[in-house]
Amino acid sequence: MQKYKIILDCDPGHDDAMAIFLALGNPNIDLLAVTTVVGNQTLDKVTHNARAIMEFVGANNIPIAAGCPRPLVRTIQTAPEVHGSTGLDGTHLPEPTQPIDQRHAVDLIIDTIKSHPPKTITLVPIGGLTNIALAVRKAPEIVELVKEVVLMGGGYHTGNRSAVAEFNIIIDPEAAHIVFNEKWPITMVGLDLTHQARPNDLIMEQIARLNTPISQFVVESLNYYTTGYRQRNGYSDHAPVHDLCAVAYVINPSIMETVKAPIDIELQGTLTTGMTVTDFRMPAKAECHTQVATKLDNPKLWEMFINSLKQLGK
Ligand code: BDR
Ligand code: CA
Repeated sequence: MQKYKIILDCDPGHDDAMAIFLALGNPNIDLLAVTTVVGNQTLDKVTHNARAIMEFVGANNIPIAAGCPRPLVRTIQTAPEVHGSTGLDGTHLPEPTQPIDQRHAVDLIIDTIKSHPPKTITLVPIGGLTNIALAVRKAPEIVELVKEVVLMGGGYHTGNRSAVAEFNIIIDPEAAHIVFNEKWPITMVGLDLTHQARPNDLIMEQIARLNTPISQFVVESLNYYTTGYRQRNGYSDHAPVHDLCAVAYVINPSIMETVKAPIDIELQGTLTTGMTVTDFRMPAKAECHTQVATKLDNPKLWEMFINSLKQLGK
């Protein structure tokens, strides 16, 4: 069986937690490291959450390292309105006890990439891009060494933190600019795609029926997250589980349609800073190294996720 090696750079966060479960429970994913970055909450809080999630599922042998406590240039923006004051409000996890890796996340990322054969590791950032930008500045050779970057962030037709900018990009647009301008293959799993990634009542019931501690956590988590979306955005539907989609793409790219197109990050706009400007004007040139995800097979996503939860519950 082919195993895909990934490094997950995250800011848990309810949907980050779901992405971690998908990665840990899927037999095709080899999760080599989890790194954290300021985003949904402060670095201390998201690192605490990452440790708690990993220990909760018994994943004690995978290194976790804390990364950047603030963006490269801008002041910190967190998302308490989405994830609460802890970053995982509405859930209850035991306090973590295992120590984290003493390296900075940037060093864990670089060391992990260099200790594996070239082009075998996929970077999966599902938070702001601060750690990844610093890693590539510290060790530019990793651009040639990683297989690809599959990130949750951006959007080619809409934003969420502003009219045109998505949270993970707008919180550190300079970092995003660095990452998108390196010549590694990048798949942008942005809001255009992730807004399709919503469970429904039936899926939520299927998850609840698993009746394991992990499924209970998932239900608590998604209920909290959806309630917030409904209050803020006037949704009647379930909330989109963004970060899950990036891991799902690594597991099975055919779960999404993608289009090759150049993408750059707006840094100067008075209204548009953090926009992932995507150029669809003509067929992309052969050297184009970026693509955007456009259409999701949503039933397949949830089937994949539920299968992971079943594996973790064993
Ligand atoms: C992204 O922002 C965060 O709040 C989520 O965890 C996700 O990574 C969605 O815009
Ligand atoms: Ca996230």
